[in-house]
Amino acid sequence: SNKGFIFDLDGVIVDTAKYHFLAWRNLANSLDIDFSEKENEQLKGVSRVRSLEKILEWGNKTISDHEFTALMAQKNEEYLAYIDKMDRSELLPDVLHYLDLLKEKEQGIALGSASKNARRILKQIHIIDKFEAIVDGNDVSAAKPDPEVFLNAAEALNITPENCIVFEDSVAGVTAANRANMISIGIGDKEVLGHADYVFKDFTELSEEFIDELINRKN
Ligand code: G6P
Ligand code: MG
Repeated sequence: SNKGFIFDLDGVIVDTAKYHFLAWRNLANSLDIDFSEKENEQLKGVSRVRSLEKILEWGNKTISDHEFTALMAQKNEEYLAYIDKMDRSELLPDVLHYLDLLKEKEQGIALGSASKNARRILKQIHIIDKFEAIVDGNDVSAAKPDPEVFLNAAEALNITPENCIVFEDSVAGVTAANRANMISIGIGDKEVLGHADYVFKDFTELSEEFIDELINRKN
């Protein structure tokens, strides 16, 4: 049996959520807009453009297109300064183990991320070769919670959506996986990701038995 395992990047494979948080908070504060963990949670899985729009909405601010573009560039520049110092130690626990296990079991492995920096990050930590297909923020027109990114990943793997399993840490991403008719596995807090088919705190809570069960499941 052959299934497709689609991984989100930020917050699932690497601990970059903290860098997105720092860069967005700096930007929000520079506009006199409050930005805490609570706001940050709502930006997980959300595209860069949509994230800035939301921050401006929260602060009741309107700015020119020119300023909008400048702020997006500023946020990304700060974010990339963190990214370019990353190494493999910032891989989340046991992710590599499961990527290798799935490969051993000859399953399809894809990345499905909203980030336009996905390939850069995968190269930076030398795991880009682990993925048979990569679909990221440069490849899609509709952002999560739209299922486009995961449907494209399934197509690239040549596996039907019903036979795909998605690992996601964001509310928007779990919704996207559900809308794609895939099995959704939330990585994070049960309180936040209650709409996922399964939720685990992190990959250390998974087991090979669980993976085998997913692989052998009939629709
Ligand atoms: C991921 C993150 C979001 C981020 C988005 C776009 O989904 O969870 O916080 O805004 O990617 O990332 P980018 O690297 O293109 O700014
Ligand atoms: Mg994520």
